[in-house]
Amino acid sequence: MTADEKKKQAAIAALDYVKPGSIIGVGTGSTVNHFIDALAEKMKGSVEAAVSSSEASTERMKNHGIPVIDLNSAGELSIYVDGADESNRHLHLIKGGGGALTREKIVAAASKTFVCIADDSKLVNILGKFPLPVEVIPMARSMVARELTKMGGQPVWRENFVTDNGNQILDVHNLEIMEPMKMETQINQIAGVVTVGIFAHRPADVLLLGGEDGVRTVSA
Ligand code: A5P
Repeated sequence: MTADEKKKQAAIAALDYVKPGSIIGVGTGSTVNHFIDALAEKMKGSVEAAVSSSEASTERMKNHGIPVIDLNSAGELSIYVDGADESNRHLHLIKGGGGALTREKIVAAASKTFVCIADDSKLVNILGKFPLPVEVIPMARSMVARELTKMGGQPVWRENFVTDNGNQILDVHNLEIMEPMKMETQINQIAGVVTVGIFAHRPADVLLLGGEDGVRTVSA
């Protein structure tokens, strides 16, 4: 079974968490693309609307006829469905491989339940093998990179990439994130950082992992 087939399984399993008539939060990435397609195919017209975490997901949902509304008009969302680049057993995540981490963190914070969908290769013991994305205000990029280097990481500028918010991304290599909450706070304190891609203060509530033997549910 390919990684993409595993992602699709997890995405379909997330439909069980969608309450008909609700407004849901929708993340970004290849796993979420499967979720959007499955939502349109199997639960057509069932959700009232979606709040999107990226221009890419907005476009995909609009193409399927799923109404997309602004978070400011939505109130608290019942669920947020999104992928991850890595998860540990506490459902602390690394996100932002697709560069949508800031809006993802906002929509996750606005949601009652965060359902994370992924293939089983994303579950790790220690976060940090996947380079940690950090969204920065462009003028602060080099300064933030120096601070991240002092913390033991090797930041690499994601060149030719601009976030939906007009900012830049540093991908920080070689971090062993032993204390995700502490590091999330620490990096968020650096002036010029918009968002760090550690989701530990607001982890996922449920992780649906697609694998050879079907979908496994991991709860925090
Ligand atoms: C987008 O910015 C990321 O946070 C995605 O959730 C993450 O990169 C997972 O992507 P895939 O679903 O494509 O693996």
